Amino acid sequence: MRVLVVLACLLVGCLAQRPRPCRSPPLLTGSLSVYTASEKLTAIARYTYDALGQRIRLIESGSFKNKTFHIDVLLLYRQGVAYKINYRNRTCSKKTLSSAFHPLAIPRNASLQGQAVLGSSSGPGQGVLVNTWVGELKMKSRTAKYMSTVTEFGCVPVSTLFHTDKTGWIVASFFNNVIGLANPELLIPPAFCENAQLENEDGEDPVTFFSMFVKDKAAFSEM
Ligand SMILES: *[C@@H]1O[C@H](CO)[C@@H](O)[C@H](O)[C@H]1NC(C)=O
Ligand SMILES: *[C@@H]1O[C@H](CO)[C@@H](O)[C@H](O)[C@H]1NC(C)=O
Ligand SMILES: *[C@@H]1O[C@H](CO)[C@@H](O)[C@H](O)[C@H]1NC(C)=O
Repeated sequence: MRVLVVLACLLVGCLAQRPRPCRSPPLLTGSLSVYTASEKLTAIARYTYDALGQRIRLIESGSFKNKTFHIDVLLLYRQGVAYKINYRNRTCSKKTLSSAFHPLAIPRNASLQGQAVLGSSSGPGQGVLVNTWVGELKMKSRTAKYMSTVTEFGCVPVSTLFHTDKTGWIVASFFNNVIGLANPELLIPPAFCENAQLENEDGEDPVTFFSMFVKDKAAFSEM
């Protein structure tokens, strides 16, 4: 009887389960590119992500409104502070980070748009199976739409399209991802940050992980 069930499984594909929303690995290191449809922002960032300690480091360069920029930020959500680090000048500014940490995950209420193979499924190592999800997020003052692609195995982020009326479409593509922290020190403020004074700032905190891809909070609200 059991053999029969197993056989039936093989025939109808017990393994071919419907994909489910998932959470990405809690420790990730990698790179991402960010573009806005308006062409105001193009950037490449290296990121270090720790969902257990709720810490993110982003070292990013690119251009915003035809001006190049370089930004290095360490976001410590538990402590509620963000450091903007300038290694060349050994200066550091410290800001309040009042938004909650959002882990990299496909929200539970996302809808599956489809499953696909990126690359080719014709030979080993030529392709990767991914799932694409769509949904909405209510933010402070507006609604955002997203379309996120993650790998079927491992829930590793591949790309995210994010849209609000204010920003237009933002595309973030992840690459060279490694599970784990390649350099845990990047999640600790450098010594010269110790004496940084807390600067007060009005305006919106980054509400989601995605809004931090953009140059600056101020820049973000300008877009
Ligand atoms: C950026 O520069 C290009 C060419 O130099 C120009 O066509 C474009 O209008 C500029 N964009 C902005 C936002 O200034
Ligand atoms: C860093 O130093 C350079 C030259 O000394 C100066 O032009 C620049 O404004 C400084 N940057 C910051 C963020 O203080
Ligand atoms: C899903 O949940 C979020 C909050 O977690 C909510 O803002 C959104 O409207 C919900 N609906 C859809 C279709 O994503």
